[in-house]
Formats: sequence, C-alpha cells, structure tokens
Amino acid sequence: MTVLVTGGAGFIGGNFVLDWVAGSGEQVVNLDKLTYAGNLETLASVAGNRRHVFVQGDIGDRSLVERLLAEHRPRAIVNFAAESHVDRSIHGPGEFIRTNVVGTYDLLESACGYWSGLPQAEKDAFRFLHISTDEVYGSLGPSDPPFAETRRYEPNSPYSASKAASDHLVRAWHHTYGLPVLTTHCSNNYGPYQFPEKLIPLMIVNALAGQGLPVYGDGLQVRDWLYVTDHCSAARRVLEAGKPGETYNVGGWSEKPNIEVVKTVCALLDELRPRQDGTSYARQITFVADRPGHDRRYAIDARKLECELGWRPAETFETGIRKTVRWYLDNPEWVANVRSGAYREWVTRQYEGATT
Ligand code: NAD
Ligand code: TYD
Repeated sequence: MTVLVTGGAGFIGGNFVLDWVAGSGEQVVNLDKLTYAGNLETLASVAGNRRHVFVQGDIGDRSLVERLLAEHRPRAIVNFAAESHVDRSIHGPGEFIRTNVVGTYDLLESACGYWSGLPQAEKDAFRFLHISTDEVYGSLGPSDPPFAETRRYEPNSPYSASKAASDHLVRAWHHTYGLPVLTTHCSNNYGPYQFPEKLIPLMIVNALAGQGLPVYGDGLQVRDWLYVTDHCSAARRVLEAGKPGETYNVGGWSEKPNIEVVKTVCALLDELRPRQDGTSYARQITFVADRPGHDRRYAIDARKLECELGWRPAETFETGIRKTVRWYLDNPEWVANVRSGAYREWVTRQYEGATT
C-alpha cells in the first residue's frame, strides 16, 4: 500500500512523513516542489529508507502527477503543498493563487482521472485528504464562540482567500464527480522543523542571535496553538475514519495572545540557555508596525473530531512549547542552513524600518 503526500518537505508535511515512515508499514511517495519553504534536511533521517520515495515537482504538473499515480497506485493523496505564510501573501499574492488555487485544481483533475479508472474496491477505498486552515473562517471577536465546521467562510488575507478557494474546489470535485475527499481545518501549528518566518521559530532564532523580537501591533491578537505531531495524528485519524465529503476542524483548545507566546518563549530560553548578561530575553521584544488586515482572533471548536472520530491532542501548550524550544536549541545546524541568503532577503524586506 502507498500514499502520495504533497508538500512533504515542508513543516507539517515533513513531520507527517517522518511519523508515517516510523509508524506504518506503508510506502510514502513525497512530491514537493522544494520552494524556499521545502527542506530536504528535514527528511535526512528517511533518506535511505525504501518506504520513502522523494520526487521534486509541482502539484500542478499533471503529466508528472499522472505518471506518479499510475506507477505507485496510491490508496490516498494527502495534500499539504501550499504557499503558507500570510506576510508573504501580502507582498506577493500571485504564487498563492498559482499553487493554492490552480495547483489544487490540477491535482484534483489528476486525482479524479486516476480514481475513476480504479477497480471498484480500490475506488471505494481511495481518499483525497485536503489540508486546509482555520483562517478561511476569518476573524473572531473576543467573546465569539470558536469556529465550528458550520461557520461561514470569511477569508481576509490573500493566503486565506487562496486556501478558501481551494477548499471550494475540493468540495465541488466531491459533489460533482464523486471524488472521495476529506478536508481538515487546523489552527496554528508549532514544533520541530518550522521555517523561522513564522512567529514561534522566528522568536527563538532571533532571541538566540541577540536580535529584536518583532511583535506586530499591540501583540494582543489571539491564536489557537497545536503541536505539529498532534496535527499529524489528526490527519491520520481523518484519513482512516473520516466520512467522504465531510470537513473536520483540528485544534488544541489552547488560545493565547501573541505577546504571551513570545514571553513564554523568552522564559524558556532564560531557563535553558540564559543570556550572558543575566537579563531576560524579554528585553529584546520590540513592538513593530501591524500586519495589514491582521485577523484579531482564531479559535477552533474541535468537538466533531473528538466525538465522531475519537481524536484528542496529546500535548498541552506547556509541554509542546518546551519540546519546541529544546528542539531549536538542539538543532542549530538545521536552523543555520535554512537561514540562507534568500531568508535574509525576506527578513530585511519584512522588518526593516518596521519598529514603532
Ligand atoms: P510550509 O510552507 O512549511 O510547507 C509547504 C511545502 O509545500 C513546502 O515544502 C513547499 O516546497 C511545498 N510546495 C509549495 N508549493 C508547491 C507546489 N506547487 N507543488 C509541490 N509542492 C509545493 O507549510 P506548512 O506550515 O507545513 O503547511 C502545510 C499545509 O498545512 C498548508 O496547506 C497550510 O495551508 C496548512 N496549514 C498550516 C498551518 C500552520 O500553522 N503552519 C495551520 C493550518 C493549516
Ligand atoms: P504566523 O506565525 O505568521 O501565523 P498566522 O499569521 O498564520 O496566524 O503569525 C502568528 C501570529 O503572530 C499572528 O497574529 C502574527 C503574529 N506575528 C508577530 O507578531 N510578529 C512576527 O514577526 C510574526 C511572523 C507574526
């Protein structure tokens, strides 16, 4: 048996592939374009493993995807591939439309052609799992209930709009052509191998480098944090037992204002790698100009996944953030290698002159 994972050299896809190879006897074919966010070093521990086949390529390359499907005959496709950073989508939305919208369309067409030609038993068992985000639901007020699956779509950034568009395509390919799709909407992930453009790894690497810790606006925006391996276990559970055509919200019941997250990271670093002058890393916090259109609050109601499929997160924010800080302290080479010239250009463009 084989599964095709797309975007498996990125943060969540990479963790998913590592867990899959460690925990199942099945082969995984990993299709990733290796954009700035894709990193083969994340997959170093499975490089020689016969159950991991890495292919560099684009989900929108139909001849490549159709060849991979015909050759490996996967029982499922798990689609993590996407442009994923909100700030980059503000500077340049084009790549988000190309990969997240048009790429998903191409992948659905390739998947549908393959699936429709399968023998009936394999056709019935096939699944297309689309990994989406809670950001498609828009922003919550301070006392609004968390997002349920029935919440209407109100995407506010080019990133979330492109993910919302891809979700609609996935839904339509189920209703129109019968493709057995599943969609998950997860909250903010954190953990090992996250590219240090996202909040938590950025704060860890900047703190250790003696640089400013840039908090947007007043720092009181709220996110609902989930440790990445809990997202992976949720995706496996949905793949295993989810009902085709259904959507499932995935979250950690762990809402935090950004400033609290940053202060927690500082406190852990104070404990595990104290600054040489004996002061706290919190002194490096700087408040910078806010992100345009910044969503104020996300929160996930994950009861459907818990009640129907029995999934619950294994980590709390306290256990997960400690593991995460330790991982970045223990893996300085991975961090140094991803902070290439292209990374430095991004940091200069995004943060130069942004201090308020
Ligand atoms: P990431 O940016 O770390 O990784 C994305 C991966 O996709 C990279 O390896 C990249 O090379 C690859 N990729 C990009 N365009 C491609 C293309 N056209 N063809 C093939 N591969 C391509 O992203 P992530 O944080 O791991 O997110 C993975 C998925 O999970 C995304 O769909 C994202 O929308 C969703 N998601 C992320 C979060 C989060 O907090 N990071 C939360 C909820 C949902
Ligand atoms: P991010 O990790 O980019 O995820 P998302 O925008 O998808 O939620 O950001 C998480 C929160 O942290 C978000 O409210 C923006 C904020 N943030 C900062 O305050 N400073 C930063 O340098 C970054 C990257 C994010």
